[in-house]
Amino acid sequence: MGREVDDVERRLRLREFRKERMQRYLEKRSELDESLEEVFDQRTLLALYELLNTGRLREVMGVISAGKESRVYHGVAGDGSETAVKIYLTSSAEFRRNRLQYVVDDPRFKSIPRDFRKFVYLWAKREFANLVDAYNAGVSVPKPIVQRENILVMQFLGENGVRYPLLVEEEFESDELKMIWGQLLENAAKMYKRAALVHGDLSEYNVVIGRGPVVYIIDFAQAVKLGHPLAETLLLRGVETLARFFKKRGVSVDVEEAVRVIKSG
Ligand SMILES: Nc1ncnc2c1ncn2[C@@H]1O[C@H](COP(=O)(O)OP(=O)(O)OP(=O)(O)O)[C@@H](O)[C@H]1O
Ligand SMILES: [Mg+2]
Repeated sequence: MGREVDDVERRLRLREFRKERMQRYLEKRSELDESLEEVFDQRTLLALYELLNTGRLREVMGVISAGKESRVYHGVAGDGSETAVKIYLTSSAEFRRNRLQYVVDDPRFKSIPRDFRKFVYLWAKREFANLVDAYNAGVSVPKPIVQRENILVMQFLGENGVRYPLLVEEEFESDELKMIWGQLLENAAKMYKRAALVHGDLSEYNVVIGRGPVVYIIDFAQAVKLGHPLAETLLLRGVETLARFFKKRGVSVDVEEAVRVIKSG
C-alpha cells in the first residue's frame, strides 16, 4: 500500500517536473518561434520542426543574416556542432524570373517546376548539391549537413555563435591579402577542375575569412556546371569582381593569369 502511494506520488512529481521543464523550454523558444512564424509559411515551419523532431537539428537560435529572399539562422546540429540554417522565403514573386537562367541547362535537374514553391525547393536543392560537389572536391566551404524543401543546414563558420567576418568586412595587411588571394585561386581551381563547377557569384561578400586567415567560399546558389551557357562569363565576372576589390585594397592582381590558373593549374 505504502509503496503504491510512493509510486503515485513519484509519478505525479515527475509529471510536474516535466511540465515545468517543457514550460521553460517553450518560453525560451516562444520569442524565436514568433519571429519564425511571422516570416515563414506553415509548410516551412513544418519542415523546420521535422528537422528538429528527428534530431537532425537540436536547436535554431538567433538570426545571422536577414536578406530579402532568405534568412540565415545560427543553430545546433544533432551532434552538438554549430550550424548555419539558411531558409528561403516562399513569398517573393520575382524569385523564379530572376533565377530561371541558372536552372536551365543543368543536366542534374531536367524538369523545372512552374509552381512557385516547388521552384524555390528546386533552388535550395540545387544550391545544396553544388555545396556537396564543392565540399567533396576539397574546396574550403561550410560542410553540408542536410537539406529539406527550402531549408539548407550546413556547418557554421564561426565560434560560439559569432560568425567569422566576410572578406569585405575586415581590414587586412597586404601580405594577408596576398595569402587570401592565393587561397581564393586555389579553391576556384579545385572547384573548376575537380567539381566542374563555377561559383557564379564570387565576390568579397561571399568569401568568409576564418582564423589563419583561412578562406571559405559560401553561397552556391548561382553556381553552374561547366558547359552551362553562362559558365565562362560567370567565371570571368567573379575573377574581375574580386580583382577590383583587391585593387581597392592596394593589391593588384592579374585577371587573365588568374583565369588561366583556375582552368589549368
Ligand atoms: N555557413 C555559414 N556560417 C556562418 N555564416 C553564414 C554561413 N552561411 C551564410 N552566412 C551568413 O549569412 C549571410 C548570407 O548568406 P548567403 O550569402 O549564403 O545568402 P545570400 O543569398 O547572399 O543572402 P543575402 O542576399 O542576404 O546576401 C552571409 O553573408 C554570412 O554572413
Ligand atoms: Mg551571399
